[in-house]
Amino acid sequence: MPVALIVLAAGKGTRMQSDLPKVLHKIAHAPMLWHAMRAGQALEPDACVVVAGHGAEAVEASAKSLDDRAVIALQSEQLGTAHAVAQAFPALEDFSGDAIVLYGDTPFISEHTLARMAEARARHDVVVLGFEAADPARYGRLITDGDALLRIVEFKDASAEERAIRLCNSGVVAANKTTLAALIDAVGNNNSAGEFYLTDIVEIARARGLSATVVRCDEAETMGVNSRADLAQAEAAFQARARAEALENGITLAAPETVFFAWDTVIGRDTEVEQNVVFGPEVTVESGARIRAFSHLEGCHVSRGAVVGPYARLRPGAELAEDVHIGNFVEVKNAILHEGVKANHLTYIGDAEIGERTNIGAGTITCNYDGVFKHKTTIGKNAFIGSDTMLVAPVTVGDGAMTGSGSTITRDVPDGALALARPQQVTKDGFATKLFTMLKAKRAKQSKQ
Ligand code: UD1
Ligand code: MG
Repeated sequence: MPVALIVLAAGKGTRMQSDLPKVLHKIAHAPMLWHAMRAGQALEPDACVVVAGHGAEAVEASAKSLDDRAVIALQSEQLGTAHAVAQAFPALEDFSGDAIVLYGDTPFISEHTLARMAEARARHDVVVLGFEAADPARYGRLITDGDALLRIVEFKDASAEERAIRLCNSGVVAANKTTLAALIDAVGNNNSAGEFYLTDIVEIARARGLSATVVRCDEAETMGVNSRADLAQAEAAFQARARAEALENGITLAAPETVFFAWDTVIGRDTEVEQNVVFGPEVTVESGARIRAFSHLEGCHVSRGAVVGPYARLRPGAELAEDVHIGNFVEVKNAILHEGVKANHLTYIGDAEIGERTNIGAGTITCNYDGVFKHKTTIGKNAFIGSDTMLVAPVTVGDGAMTGSGSTITRDVPDGALALARPQQVTKDGFATKLFTMLKAKRAKQSKQ
């Protein structure tokens, strides 16, 4: 059955106290909206319509950067969830199949849950995702009779008896698109909020002889974000899940609660991650690598057998081949380090390519920026860069070449050459002893005065 996603994201999110539309606030480095869209993508939808209102332009840009086929439907006035869904139908004119309504501020609905909803659709016209709430609070309540969902009552409109029900509405709904559109068409706003409630479609469906049912999921999946406190809680929930998954997938975490993953972090099995490691977006670490304590990685690829840290920083475009060693206080950005390269101490490597087995001495810096442009440093294989070498890019150091410690390299170094670019040493015999004697005498004279 073809599927279209309708993601509601028009709300202002007043309680976020923010200029940013609510759904663009990030969890694990991705806008909440992406989390919702990504879960839906597992159903391989033919279409994705994001209903936006507040900050629609920014929401559109964000949605499209995840899925360039995503379409925005504008809901300029927020008249209720049914009204919001109705805005999506013009964009789905050519689509026939199932529509699934998701929410941009409900980031954790799982792929598995959506798959179960799609399955239930084979037996029922309307499928609603429900959950047993520990504290049902202000959620809509699901009124059921066995397998059948009879209707949904909003908290505001519920009787004391209905409020006692703990089976709640997540808001996620699946139905045939044409059916859903027809049901929504019949929704009015004669209720205590004066809104067009999406939840009313259940009662309308049943009155028309259609069937409705509930698929249940864990309450954790339905967590909505309305405030910064919720956002922090959602982040914590994401991290807890990501850590558990990492452990399950065969990754060693020395102290799981101190490791922070991004929404898209990929780590191979038998990789070891030490304490206090932060993964920014777009990181891939292959099997059997070791990420040592207090390292920060983003936009990089670490191959099998590589060792990173402690205290290393890998920035976007850092590409570490097998068995590369990056040590403490080393920063790598937009650089390819071929197999077996070692840069173990206090170094900046930016806009560079370094050949196999080359050793980069402590304190080496690729001077890649002239204040306006960035330039590239190329170092061959089996080279030896002496400690405290400044490589003023653009510059090339050949295969098997060496630079003397403390050199400032401004011109290319051929294969096999040694480049020394530092002042000659001057040594004056006995001079230090004389100087010390003189200075100590001076101090003794001063302290007597
Ligand atoms: C809704 C459900 C309620 C359910 C709860 C779960 C209805 C009538 N009620 O209530 O049964 O328990 O979600 O969280 O559907 N939105 C728009 N445009 C609008 C209105 C809402 O885009 O005109 C978006 C909001 O940004 C939000 C979502 O839809 O992301 C839900 O709207 P909200 O007003 O929060 O509904 P609830 O009162 O929470
Ligand atoms: Mg809500």
